[in-house]
Amino acid sequence: MVRRPFIAGNWKMNTTRSEAVQLVRAVREAVAGVEGVDMAVCPPSVYLDAVGAELKDSAIALGAQNMYHQAKGAFTGELSAAMLLDVGCQYVILGHSERRHILGESNEDVCRKVHAALAAGLTPIVCVGETKDERDAKKTTDIVAEQFFGSLAGVSSDQAARVVIAYEPVWAIGTGVVATVDEAGEVHASLRGMMAGRYGAAIADQIRIQYGGSVTDENAADLLSVSDIDGALVGGASLKAGSFPKIIRAAVS
Ligand code: 13P
Repeated sequence: MVRRPFIAGNWKMNTTRSEAVQLVRAVREAVAGVEGVDMAVCPPSVYLDAVGAELKDSAIALGAQNMYHQAKGAFTGELSAAMLLDVGCQYVILGHSERRHILGESNEDVCRKVHAALAAGLTPIVCVGETKDERDAKKTTDIVAEQFFGSLAGVSSDQAARVVIAYEPVWAIGTGVVATVDEAGEVHASLRGMMAGRYGAAIADQIRIQYGGSVTDENAADLLSVSDIDGALVGGASLKAGSFPKIIRAAVS
C-alpha cells in the first residue's frame, strides 16, 4: 500500500502571535491547490486559536506540540485533549525529544498521553530517536524499540493504524546535520519491522513514519524518496515561508 505523505511543521517556542499569523497565511497561500499530501502546522499552544482561524477551509491541519493525559482538573499549566480539539487541533506531537530529554518525560508518560489522545480522537505524532552517544554505542535500534514499544504499550491494532511515528535522531535536531538517506532508511525499515511484529503486516503498512531532524527544502526530496519515509516533521525550516511549502511540494513530486 502506498501511504499518503504527511508533512508537519513544529514551530516549537519560536513565534510571536503576529509572526505565527503571518507565517500561516504565507504557507497557506503557497500550498493552495497542492494535493496528495497531508499537511499540518503545530504552533505554540497560546496561538493555536489564532492560527486555526487562519486555516478555516484550508487543507492544512492544526496540531499541538504537547498535551496532558488527564481529562480535566487541578493540573496547573497543562492542557487536555478536549481543549486541543476545542481549538481545532487534529494532531498532537507527543514524546518529542526535547520533552523527553529537557523536561524529563518517560515512555510511560508518553504512553498515557497517547492513550488519552487516541481516546479523544486526536492523531498522535509519537516521536522516537536516539542521541549521538547512543548511536555511537550502536544502541540505536534498542533505544528506538524501547521508545516505540513503551510509548505504544496497550495500543490496539485499530488504534495503531491511526498513529503517526516520527523518527527524530536527537543528534540531527536543530544541528544542520541531517541523517543520510541510508541512516534514516535503516531505522525506518526497522521501525516498520517492529510494527509488523506487533500489529501484523497489514497494519504496519498503514502506519506513517515521518523523519525529523534538519530537514530542509534541499534535502527533503532525497529523504522522501525512501520507501519507508512517509513524510517529515520539520522544525527550523517550517518557520520559513520560503522553505516549508517547498518541502510539502517535494512530498508529491
Ligand atoms: P529541526 O528541523 O529544526 O532540526 O527540528 C526537528 C524537530 O525537532 C521537529 O520536531
